[in-house]
Amino acid sequence: MTLLLGQKVPNFKQQSTQGEIDLYDYLDASWGVLFSHPADFTPVCTTELGRVGQLEADFKKRNVKVLALSVDGVDSHQRWVSDIEQTQDTKVAYPILADADRSVSKLYDMLPAGDAPNTLTVRSVFIIDPNKVLRLSLTYPASTGRNFDEILRVIDSLQLTDQHKVATPVDWKAGEDVVIVPSLTDEAEIAERFPSGYRTVKPYLRLTKDPVSG
Ligand code: BEZ
Repeated sequence: MTLLLGQKVPNFKQQSTQGEIDLYDYLDASWGVLFSHPADFTPVCTTELGRVGQLEADFKKRNVKVLALSVDGVDSHQRWVSDIEQTQDTKVAYPILADADRSVSKLYDMLPAGDAPNTLTVRSVFIIDPNKVLRLSLTYPASTGRNFDEILRVIDSLQLTDQHKVATPVDWKAGEDVVIVPSLTDEAEIAERFPSGYRTVKPYLRLTKDPVSG
């Protein structure tokens, strides 16, 4: 099943390092980041899960709950978490799903091509909003560690653009200028929404201050 942006994500129950998790119950009214890694006790994955641990406060500040997943068992995850915490100088306070039966991996299309019974998950990321709607999905190869600052950047963009009639340009970071959506043409509304004014580069490219932190 391919999950499309804008679709409600399917619920699941699966074992984890923090007991059985029901996705919808776990997320409750929060945003969610569900991400898979190929295998425990592997180098790139160790750095990735460590980085997510280091970013705990950054996810919390944005009302995001994090959930990792691989096809390894709970015992393996628990032994590996000790290594992550020791080598990456952090705590892994978020749960890691133990998807040994690959039920969630199949439901969310986290497996590579082929049908070998022992397939490992690829590096998938899903950003889920409080309505359980899929807002971002990405897939990385096993040899390339992801950039979780980029995941936070996308969450900042989604949370901003959900509330304001703006979009965020290339390489945007919170506090930098944003783009007024082309559909907004009423000058009175623009003046009300963006009291600091805006700059027209082209009629379709109008820049204004970040309405939250600009
Ligand atoms: C790693 O995390 O280092 C890794 C995992 C699976 C395949 C290749 C690299």
